[in-house]
Amino acid sequence: MVRVLGIETSCDETAAAIVVDGRTIESNVVYSQDDVHRQTGGVVPETASRLHLRTIVPVLERALGEAGRDWGDLDAIAVTNGPGLAGSLLVGLNTAKAMAFARDVPFLGVNHLEGHVYANWLVEGVEPRFPLVALIVSGGHTDLVVMHGHGEYRRLGRTLDDAAGEAFDKAARMLQLGYPGGPAIQRAAVGADPTRYELPRAWLKGTRDFSFSGLKTAMLRTVRQAGDAIDPADLAASFQEAIVDVLATKTIEAARDHGATSIALAGGVAANTALRARMEKLADLPVLIPPVRLCTDNAAMIAAAGHFRYEAGERSALDLDIFPVLPIA
Ligand code: KG4
Ligand code: ZN
Repeated sequence: MVRVLGIETSCDETAAAIVVDGRTIESNVVYSQDDVHRQTGGVVPETASRLHLRTIVPVLERALGEAGRDWGDLDAIAVTNGPGLAGSLLVGLNTAKAMAFARDVPFLGVNHLEGHVYANWLVEGVEPRFPLVALIVSGGHTDLVVMHGHGEYRRLGRTLDDAAGEAFDKAARMLQLGYPGGPAIQRAAVGADPTRYELPRAWLKGTRDFSFSGLKTAMLRTVRQAGDAIDPADLAASFQEAIVDVLATKTIEAARDHGATSIALAGGVAANTALRARMEKLADLPVLIPPVRLCTDNAAMIAAAGHFRYEAGERSALDLDIFPVLPIA
């Protein structure tokens, strides 16, 4: 039995979790800074790192407490060392290093995006199998990758401009729906007409890449032209539909072409109910979707990804650095 402590502070969630054998969650503590960042309509990096500093120790203690474990019970510490906000990443990485050194526990740096993919290993009764095509859709990234084994990624496509989550956040701001934008758009779109406003889809045929900047511009134009006559619910629904349409269609095409045995959704936008429903409807192979609390930033996914790297014999040195920009492949 291998027990890993995961630590995640790459953006605006301070999180710690304990996972056994990369599959079983013993505790999963997430302290979200949303309430603070809502006041500025987005994450201010300096504020985020200060809050991480204040909360990391209590969050760690709670993760150990809820699992009923002590430092001596840990086989490894896995920590996000990129991509993310530099000041935020440093808090988690330095905490992990300090504890690894003080308690003589091996530690490993984990790519945050890899963590998102490994949320799929934390779902009870699901055994992800390779080759697997994963769509990673978060606030900062939109990547389509194929995995032929643990830790083996080949990037098939990525966004050329905005990330899917970023597009949701910007659209919500235009519609004055609040922060974070994804859940706000989803709420506003319930029961609304997704065909009311015609919005563009960038198919970028012949590639697996994505682009959402044209959609953003079209949204802005629609809001400006319609003025007070705008129906925010229908526009939110039309926007969500445009994003879901492209994400689902291109992911399923890629899975088919690469002979995938399953598709995995990952990242905050994978929490979107319209995306989840569309993927399940269109795909003729199993679609793995973690529960919402494991889609958005958490440390259990970092512990799970770290587990498989630990099992493969990987360890990080104490001079490991942060990488604000760190592609998955
Ligand atoms: O993965 P995540 O928690 O943090 C990053 O690594 O970026 O993703 C956050 C993003 C935000 O842009 C948020 O608006 C989006 O995920 N998001 C959603 C939903 N829940 C979170 N987007 C669409 N629908 C949702 N239900
Ligand atoms: Zn994330």
